Amino acid sequence: MTQDELKKAVGWAALDYVTPGTIVGVGTGSTAAHFIDALASIKHQIEGAVSSSEASTAKLKGYGIHVFDLNEIDELAVYVDGADEINGQMQMIKGGGAALTREKIIAAVAQRFICIADASKQVDVLGRFPLPVEVIPMARSYVARELVKLGGQPEYRQNVLTDNGNIILDVHNLKIIDPTRLEAAINALPGVVTVGLFAARGADVALIGTANGVQTIKK
Ligand code: A5P
Repeated sequence: MTQDELKKAVGWAALDYVTPGTIVGVGTGSTAAHFIDALASIKHQIEGAVSSSEASTAKLKGYGIHVFDLNEIDELAVYVDGADEINGQMQMIKGGGAALTREKIIAAVAQRFICIADASKQVDVLGRFPLPVEVIPMARSYVARELVKLGGQPEYRQNVLTDNGNIILDVHNLKIIDPTRLEAAINALPGVVTVGLFAARGADVALIGTANGVQTIKK
């Protein structure tokens, strides 16, 4: 199976976690795009979606799925999204698609985070994938210097502005032994909007696409 076929398999498998009559949290990226395709097949059974990016919103609306503002809803049963890396503790690196801030907000609201990923995303130690950090533009150099002190090599993601008008620093060469502590340390830097470490609030269920089928891991 190709990597895209594995992504498609987990995108469709995530439908099992959608309760009819509810609003569904929808992530961003190529795996989440397959989930949106799957969601469209049951669009008359759901009330609508909340979306983590302009790209996902456009795709949802293209299918005629109503997209709610997050402020309009009180609760969210599930959030379904991909990941750039996931470890055995269900902690993740996210933000390869620059949507990390809205992803983290929706993940915080959702009762359950369903991570959908092909098996190449599984790691023992997070950090091989450069860690995205969304930063207020005027703080770019300061935050970059602080990230060096934390042991990383930040690289400015050229020609990318997030949906919130901020820039991304991708931090290379990190071996993240204590993800919760690093998440808190980076969050504490003035000018940082969001770090793409989802450690304190990781996934509750991981659907992993393998050559032998979809593997389900529960926290
Ligand atoms: C978007 O900002 C990311 O967090 C994505 O969820 C992540 O990059 C996974 O993307 P793919 O599903 O395209 O691999």
